[in-house]
Amino acid sequence: MELRTLGNSGLTVSPIGLGLAALGRPGYINLGHAADLDQNYQVEAMQAHAHQILDAAWAGGIRYFDAARSYGRAEHFLASWLAGRRITPEEVTVGSKWGYTYTAGWQVEARQHEVKEHSLAVLWRQAQESLDILGQHLDLYQVHSATLTSGVLDNRPVLDELARLRAGGLKIGLTLSGPQQTETLRQALTITYDGRLLFDSAQATWNLLEQSAAPALQEASQAGLGIIVKEALANGRLTPRNDAPEFQSQRALLEQVAAQQQTTIDALALAAALAQPWASVVLSGAATAEQVHSNLKALEVRWDDEAAARLAPLLETPEAYWRTRDHLKWN
Ligand SMILES: NC(=O)c1ccc[n+]([C@@H]2O[C@H](COP(=O)([O-])OP(=O)(O)OC[C@H]3O[C@@H](n4cnc5c(N)ncnc54)[C@H](OP(=O)(O)O)[C@@H]3O)[C@@H](O)[C@H]2O)c1
Repeated sequence: MELRTLGNSGLTVSPIGLGLAALGRPGYINLGHAADLDQNYQVEAMQAHAHQILDAAWAGGIRYFDAARSYGRAEHFLASWLAGRRITPEEVTVGSKWGYTYTAGWQVEARQHEVKEHSLAVLWRQAQESLDILGQHLDLYQVHSATLTSGVLDNRPVLDELARLRAGGLKIGLTLSGPQQTETLRQALTITYDGRLLFDSAQATWNLLEQSAAPALQEASQAGLGIIVKEALANGRLTPRNDAPEFQSQRALLEQVAAQQQTTIDALALAAALAQPWASVVLSGAATAEQVHSNLKALEVRWDDEAAARLAPLLETPEAYWRTRDHLKWN
């Protein structure tokens, strides 16, 4: 895979990255999560499984890896893999996130899976934890799911601390979620320190069902931010795994266009994201080696205006999209 830079950050990334949300803990919302892990939740088994997926991603040319404090032991699994394979910080780019604390107690079902708090105390604690685990490998530290209501973009002490971390050498990003990704990103683009934008990158949801953030992502890219696309497969809804009756006609359309391109629907959906001119990295959320291989086929798909026009009817309103996402079951 040809490498590129993440906006003006100077970090080197591959066009496809690997996210570890599905790999670090027993429970997640992606459709077939339990089956992907064979329901084996021993820490050692999950670590071995994560290492197998990381090996497949590395062999396929993936050089950006995305973790978070709240993804269970994802940062630990990534760190032990980097050490075991003797991968130096120069050979890879690693991002992580602060703002949610993992509270599921290594259970698939929990009363509360994670607790969100964008306070200075949480930033201090989690930044130290991430640095202790990932050390020199940590390149990019992102606010996890910044929203207007979380207040993080108005919290001067938190922003000052992020600027201090940046002055110390980390790159600083934010991730977005929910129907107001656009408004949140535009507010983030107004925050400057010493005449420079605070944020080096933005990570946002964009896929064939939810594209409302595209104009703001274009603006952010033009302003020099690196753009990381997440949930390009709508948490598994844009994969062969989705056999929901209410998605049948959309699935048939996806299969028709995929067949025409001689590819799979997951590769087609990832290719759509890769084709966006503002996208620096598109995350694969693969939970098995087979999914890594299938997702990487996106690089061979010829995405064109005709494919875009044929799949345009898949678009949902942001409100409908995020309502469905809110109801995905942890498994
Ligand atoms: N707020 C945030 O900052 C935030 C939020 C979400 C995600 N992220 C980041 O984005 C990354 C990717 O997002 P995501 O994993 O949530 O969503 P995604 O990429 O939309 O979905 C990935 C899921 O699709 C399914 N899949 C992929 N290829 C498949 C195939 N060939 N056949 C069948 N199923 C297939 C797998 O789920 P199943 O097999 O389980 O169905 C896989 O876990 C995460 O790992 C994380 O790093 C960040």
